[in-house]
Amino acid sequence: MNRSMKQFTLVSLAIVSATVTIFATDLTKAYDMPDASKLIEKDLLAEATKFTMPKSCKLDDLEAIKRGSFFFHNLNGKKVKGDAPKGVVKFTEKKTKDGKVKKVAKQYGNCVACHNIEGAKGAGNIGPDLTGYKAMFVDTKVRDAQFVYQKIADPRVDNKETHMTVNLTTKLFNESEICDLTAYVMSVKK
Ligand code: HEC
Repeated sequence: MNRSMKQFTLVSLAIVSATVTIFATDLTKAYDMPDASKLIEKDLLAEATKFTMPKSCKLDDLEAIKRGSFFFHNLNGKKVKGDAPKGVVKFTEKKTKDGKVKKVAKQYGNCVACHNIEGAKGAGNIGPDLTGYKAMFVDTKVRDAQFVYQKIADPRVDNKETHMTVNLTTKLFNESEICDLTAYVMSVKK
């Protein structure tokens, strides 16, 4: 073995042993191991819950329909272009653990991820097409406001196996926002 070959071998050995040392380090000590059962408990949804549509729901109110449309077509406040309709905020304030107040984007429905409807852009098809809902389901008395409200609030009451998001039981939306969404779905649209 000549001198430069020897040097090469030594350098290679050094690299290999350094690599082995890095990979042999016990990385589990570098972060907290979460208690999985506690995490699962926190993520479990509360049981399917029945709701009665509040009398304060104004289904014919144009402002409510506008807000419902906004919730239906948007995912969160950060991504929204243009102004939010009256009575809708794009950001909310949240208290962090250390007591600071943080501005967070308000989460909306993203209903278009699963449902097509009038004016939808890039709608998904996991849920039924809600285009022409009033004429097809409401005027024919197949569905009523209470059904639509309950479906949006907690779809599991109607269908245990549903793939739809639970919105009121999980507090993703509050009662009045579910009213707005109900008004929008049941409204006549262009
Ligand atoms: C992850 C997919 C998904 C999302 C998101 C979703 N839905 Fe649904 N939706 C469904 C599916 C699937 C059904 C079919 C019925 C069932 O299984 O519950 C449904 C059913 C419905 C119905 C009942 C239609 C009928 O008369 O049979 C309404 C109304 C509705 N969704 C409204 C909404 C609204 C409003 C939102 C947004 C807040 C929304 N959905 C978000 C998947 C979704």
